Amino acid sequence: MGNEAILLRYCRVSLVRLFPVSLAAKGNVRNLSKVVAPEMDCAQAQHVMNEAPTAPQPLSQTGLRGAVVGDTRLSSINGEKGELIYRGINIHDLASSSTFEEVAYLLWFGTLPTKTHLDEFRANLNRHRALPSGLLAILRDLPKNGTPMDALRTAVSALGLFDSSVNDMSRDAQFEKALKLTALVGTILAAYHRISKGLEPVTPDPALDTAANFLYMFTGTVPDAKAVRVLDASLILHADHGMNASTFAAIVTAATLSDMYAAVTSAIGALKGPLHGGANEGVIHNLLEIGDINNVNAWVEKKFAAREKIMGFGHAVYKAYDPRATELKRIAKEVGASAGTTKWVEMTERMEQAVWDSKQLYPNVDLYSASVYYTLGIPTPYFTPVFAISRVAGWCAHCIEQYADNKLLRPRANYVGARGVTYVPVAERSADIVL
Ligand SMILES: CC(C)(COP(=O)(O)OP(=O)(O)OC[C@H]1O[C@@H](n2cnc3c(N)ncnc32)[C@H](O)[C@@H]1OP(=O)(O)O)[C@@H](O)C(=O)NCCC(=O)NCCS
Repeated sequence: MGNEAILLRYCRVSLVRLFPVSLAAKGNVRNLSKVVAPEMDCAQAQHVMNEAPTAPQPLSQTGLRGAVVGDTRLSSINGEKGELIYRGINIHDLASSSTFEEVAYLLWFGTLPTKTHLDEFRANLNRHRALPSGLLAILRDLPKNGTPMDALRTAVSALGLFDSSVNDMSRDAQFEKALKLTALVGTILAAYHRISKGLEPVTPDPALDTAANFLYMFTGTVPDAKAVRVLDASLILHADHGMNASTFAAIVTAATLSDMYAAVTSAIGALKGPLHGGANEGVIHNLLEIGDINNVNAWVEKKFAAREKIMGFGHAVYKAYDPRATELKRIAKEVGASAGTTKWVEMTERMEQAVWDSKQLYPNVDLYSASVYYTLGIPTPYFTPVFAISRVAGWCAHCIEQYADNKLLRPRANYVGARGVTYVPVAERSADIVL
């Protein structure tokens, strides 16, 4: 790429940071090339770049909304219509008729597989399902009172050390790592759960797929088909979601040509936060605190009066009903009815109504997944980790896509700090010099 092209490319990125709102309205960063390039020669573009730091405008609230980081063929969200597609297929069709393994295959290979190919893929995942003994030893040594999300992040990071091809960047090696990571997240969590309860980890059953194997290894008993189907549908719904925060963290790491274990470790760190995957745990804490359906409205009013955020509502992209919440609401009702405990889903529905009445906020994926997992008997600290059992497939797919057409991701920050400050040696400072 010539200097001019590079300059214009940087100039576009800089303008994304300066004018994210107008960009969001245009919907695509590439539109900027049409706006900027015809009117500006290289010197003018350089002038724009040089001007930005001397006229600082705080951008701290923009959060990169509307910025486009690159191309993807994996999934797409239409935030206005409340639509989500994986490789062009509507999420509703996949949630009702597909399986997590088929969705992972679809994301990684861009193909709806024949039964033979899908069976091979399932067997390949199961080939990797057991923990390396060294990793099991690490899990045994971790503090028993830690959070499973931290244990998962540590274990995935350590997993790279047990893979002799960790730095092999060939496509075959990438898919092999994606298989290992996707097969092992559930095994790691189940093993950590049992170890922290003083129980022995359960060896995976090669006849069971991801959802069933997780429930089996977690509880030690073969789960019933309904519970498996519920968890499997939830895994389908969580597998990918455009350029969300954890996926962005993964591809930033992958784009340095670091390995896939490092990328997934970054992603797990980002998923943990309560503004991302951690929200589903917040939802159940809220429901437990409220305690009774008759307390919901007053609780919601109190939260809004205190200007506090309510977990499970709002979204950076959806300005309509999150289609995953539609599916999970249906599943939460079904699972509640068959377990004979509809209390949590009824409270959640009441909360949805109260939040809508006060602030017209839509629920997101985490609102109803909370009562689904709670009714399934999954302990609260495992809600966000269960999200990771599924999203790891999306993270790996995005890493593979990034490696195939890589460009280091290196944005700029809008410097609004001091300039031209004289350095005073420490011996001459009578007090801290605050800049
Ligand atoms: C997800 C989230 C970070 C998206 O944020 P965003 O698009 O940047 O929207 P903002 O945080 O700027 O919120 C816009 C307005 O809606 C309000 N809002 C958004 N989500 C809210 C929530 N969950 N509870 C209460 N108010 C909320 C904000 O307070 C803000 O109001 P204001 O304009 O009066 O200040 C935000 O909705 C949130 O924090 N939700 C709770 C956490 C959650 O459920 N995360 C899971 C996401 S899948």
